[in-house]
Amino acid sequence: MSIKLSPSILASDYGALRESVAIVEAAGADYLHIDVMDGSFVPNITIGPPVVACLRKSSGLIFDCHLMIQEPDKHIDAFAKAGADIITVHAEAAPHLQRTLSHIHSLGLRAGVALNPATDISCLKYVLDDVDMILIMTVNPGFGGQKFIPAMVNKVRDLKGMIGDRPIDIQVDGGISLDNLKVITDAGANVIVAGSAVFKADNPSAAVRRFKELA
Ligand code: DX5
Ligand code: ZN
Repeated sequence: MSIKLSPSILASDYGALRESVAIVEAAGADYLHIDVMDGSFVPNITIGPPVVACLRKSSGLIFDCHLMIQEPDKHIDAFAKAGADIITVHAEAAPHLQRTLSHIHSLGLRAGVALNPATDISCLKYVLDDVDMILIMTVNPGFGGQKFIPAMVNKVRDLKGMIGDRPIDIQVDGGISLDNLKVITDAGANVIVAGSAVFKADNPSAAVRRFKELA
């Protein structure tokens, strides 16, 4: 599977979101990673559907919405309407996961499941035919700029084995940089989220191009 880059706007200047998105789009990013936090599932609070709808007006990127929220079922329709292309929910926050994934598909979107670092991949065994992307958190969710957890490399490798030849993307999110990109893609990840490594770089546009070259 080809490697895709999904810059996370969590690390960008929220006062200049549209410009930040335009920069990574022009530089060749594949997706735009939009971190949605509710102050309950994770300690932090970020953005909701109105901001996604606003960005949708000026961007053609694939909007990769990572919902770090409790009761995601209550909000999926609103994110779909706002222009999400991929909606990822946390397994830890979605007790009726198969139904949630089916619902995302019924709206014509791609469905993802995210796992916190401590959550075993075995919880996905019976939904592998219902999911398009599995997001392995490589930090504990809630904040950008955290340190990559090395044990997640083996988790990605184990997941790759479990997936077999199913066409499921493996996304990694948290602490990814040009320095650890290779170890994680070698393990099987093919959708790379990068927040600080892109938006806190001196030149975000050059950072996107460098990620794409190395991937
Ligand atoms: C963390 C978020 C990440 C975050 C990654 O909860 O899900 O998407 O933006 O940021 P970096 O790349 O700075 O770790
Ligand atoms: Zn994220």
